[in-house]
Amino acid sequence: MRASYKRCCGLILLVGFLLMALCHVWSPGSSSRVDIWPKELGPIDSHLNGKIRNIASAYRDIPYHIKEDVAGRLAQNTCMCVADKETVHLPFSNLLWPRVWAHDLGVAFLESQPDPEGVKHNRAQEYRSFQRRSFDPSEVLVVAEAQSPLQYPTQGVKVQPLKTIIIPGLGLKEEKKSNHSVYLTATLGTFDIAASVDRVTVKGAAEKHMVLSSPVLSSLNRQLQFVTYTNTVFHPRTADTIEFSTSGHQAFFTIKVGHGTVPTLYNHGSQKEYNISALVTIATKTFLRYDKLKELIASIRQYYPTVTIVVADDSVDPQPVTGPYIEHYIMPFGKGWFAGRNLAVSQVTTKYVLWADDDFIFTSNTKLEKMVDILERTTLDMIGGAVKEVTGYTATYRHTISVEEGGEEGNCLHIRKGYHHVINGYPNCVVADAIINFFMGRTDKLQQVGFNPRLARQGHLEFFIDALGSLHIGSCSDIIVNHASKIKLPWTKTEIQKAYDKFRYTSAHSNKNLQNEIFYFKNRFKCMTSQ
Ligand SMILES: *[C@@H]1O[C@H](CO)[C@@H](O)[C@H](O)[C@H]1NC(C)=O
Ligand SMILES: *[C@@H]1O[C@H](CO)[C@@H](O)[C@H](O)[C@H]1NC(C)=O
Repeated sequence: MRASYKRCCGLILLVGFLLMALCHVWSPGSSSRVDIWPKELGPIDSHLNGKIRNIASAYRDIPYHIKEDVAGRLAQNTCMCVADKETVHLPFSNLLWPRVWAHDLGVAFLESQPDPEGVKHNRAQEYRSFQRRSFDPSEVLVVAEAQSPLQYPTQGVKVQPLKTIIIPGLGLKEEKKSNHSVYLTATLGTFDIAASVDRVTVKGAAEKHMVLSSPVLSSLNRQLQFVTYTNTVFHPRTADTIEFSTSGHQAFFTIKVGHGTVPTLYNHGSQKEYNISALVTIATKTFLRYDKLKELIASIRQYYPTVTIVVADDSVDPQPVTGPYIEHYIMPFGKGWFAGRNLAVSQVTTKYVLWADDDFIFTSNTKLEKMVDILERTTLDMIGGAVKEVTGYTATYRHTISVEEGGEEGNCLHIRKGYHHVINGYPNCVVADAIINFFMGRTDKLQQVGFNPRLARQGHLEFFIDALGSLHIGSCSDIIVNHASKIKLPWTKTEIQKAYDKFRYTSAHSNKNLQNEIFYFKNRFKCMTSQ
């Protein structure tokens, strides 16, 4: 008796120890913290800038002669709002010689504003924050200093389609010779010089292949500072690979061709505190469950009486959903889950959209201000909260997603529970690739990813797979929404619940097939692994 009691205790201890060890090994995510505040240019950039200034200021004492026709084409980045002048005064002259007109948006818009300076200030602030968020280190100008003996920019040279730039950083460092020469070759554009330097011969100006030669190396280097590139083949987003060589050495670099990004800024006024009604729209999708939807709306109104709520509804027999700040969009019957998300999100005009299911209930823990704060202060595009079940269990559904190359048959999709790291300054928040269906996101970013409307009945992960690599996603466990009772005994179900369950859950087979098709065909996966 005693011995077996002891053995039993030992066994329990052993099992406990093993469980602890397992938990330790399996504990999802790492405990590291990462600062994801938008990056300003760091010390490496000032170092790079200093180098480029030195390169640009070399050979100052060698004179040059401006070539007006080429130099005049260079982008000045000082655009002016000017219309064509009227040259002839004749009846119908506008029809015969259509003139370019110009409309000063600044004057036109600001004169209608009570506080124009305030509007300008907000716009500038939003733009700075946009620039910091969209900063891309691979666009910074980097020059490989002469070693090979060629000196040229390795990255960060950009030109707008069909426009002209000076190619920065070109140079040659070699032993003295009787004739120093370099060759430039492009595919999508031509070279020229914006100014000429004495004792330098230029062959092939305004052509795809240009040769510069001089008996004086410093004159050739001075001349290289004025080499221009003009994109001649239109493409909105591409790159030209430039060959830069001497008779014995060869180097390649790319010039990116493309328009700059046109920003999407939201004019939400300026307040010291976040004005949720001005910043956030709540979007939801309903199907038959009007009782649940009414509870959700009532709970939102307790805390956010003037926030706009967008409802997408594909019920068979739509009922009115009315009230202030409510937009009810009726869709064809059974269009489905993701189609509804798409429709609701497409109607949002605020900077942020909050997704909530129609059977959620807001409580005093549903702090939208916290979500806005983290989205405003970090580079995150989307932040999820936690959903609390009636049982008290709280779920955050944090997962990481990775794609492994798999050759001919397709790639492998790996989904794991867990997260990447804790967010600096927000101890309850982490960064992950997939989160729960209670989230706030930047409206423009969510609209860009979109919700595949083919996913009619179920779908969640599919969105995050489409978002992989384009959205920066977080999850906070301390922003909580309640889930209305889900588990109901069959004999207490109402007719509506039965109809809902029938529609939502009976077509599981065709659902699975659709998911297989989307993963196999649309996303070209051959395999999916998950926990
Ligand atoms: C120098 O070399 C270039 C390229 O090989 C050639 O085109 C040019 O005529 C040469 N100049 C002299 C003065 O030899
Ligand atoms: C918040 O924004 C709403 C909607 O833009 C506006 O009507 C309201 O006056 C704002 N509230 C405050 C305190 O500024």
